[in-house]
Amino acid sequence: MLKIKATSILGTAPIVAALDRVAPFRQNKMQPVGNWPPLLKFSIDNFDNNAILKSVQDAMLQYGQWNYRIGETETGQIKTDSGYGGIGLTYNPNHVDGDAIDLHQQVQGNHRPGATGLDGKNPFTILSASESQTHARRNTHYDTYGMCYRTPASKSGELGTFLNTFKRTMVRSAVRVIYADQIGQVGDDQLAGVRWHRDEPFFENLRINIPLLTNPLFVLEQEGHAPYHLEAGYAYTWDTNTLHRAYATARSEVPMQRIHLMLGFSCWWDFDEQTGEWSQNEFFNKKHPLDMLADGEVIPGLQLT
Ligand SMILES: [Fe+2]
Repeated sequence: MLKIKATSILGTAPIVAALDRVAPFRQNKMQPVGNWPPLLKFSIDNFDNNAILKSVQDAMLQYGQWNYRIGETETGQIKTDSGYGGIGLTYNPNHVDGDAIDLHQQVQGNHRPGATGLDGKNPFTILSASESQTHARRNTHYDTYGMCYRTPASKSGELGTFLNTFKRTMVRSAVRVIYADQIGQVGDDQLAGVRWHRDEPFFENLRINIPLLTNPLFVLEQEGHAPYHLEAGYAYTWDTNTLHRAYATARSEVPMQRIHLMLGFSCWWDFDEQTGEWSQNEFFNKKHPLDMLADGEVIPGLQLT
């Protein structure tokens, strides 16, 4: 089993790209053994939704919450999404934003334009795929495996107790809030939420959503499927490498929030914060992340509903 110290990985490519060069895994073609539906819903043993929601709300009061960074205004100020925000559960101690932002804010969109070490490149002016490649660098928002350290918020209260049970390393994970009463980025009606996008393949990042506070107004939409409301207190996953979006289906007249834990897991490489080492685990190239999840090898106590 390979073991690699993060600081020994040379170059400017994101950590996951460097690991993939040593032992290819991101584009693995393995199929799960289980015949899983397009959207998997799990109950969680001993999950006290209200206690965890309260500790998340307490953590946001104590550490703060930040709207997602989506661009620049004409005067060079960072533009944020009023309909979408939250707080980080993981961070990267070497993030290009350094001390200019709170470590809990790193997961909320791109780094600052002009951050040092990036040749002055502005992350908000990506015009082509090759430019996008240029921005996919170590210690930026695109360095998913760089954000593998637990934030203080992630260790607090009942939330911390729950996250401590996880068996795999969390990468770029956050509490994500949609504010249904705010102007957002989705569709012509400017609904609050996240526009159509794809995330990483399963092997690179298994993404789990756990709604803690919601309302039937909020939906997940996967390409080719009808919009679907995700219920509080359950864990959901799907192939987030396929097109999907999450949004409020109408603007609310009164303040209304959807609070989800949006967790990402590195299923085949485990990170040790003490030693700074990435280690291949026993599942590498052997067991599909969805099968691992169903067997309790990512979050213990999940039961498929
Ligand atoms: Fe997504």
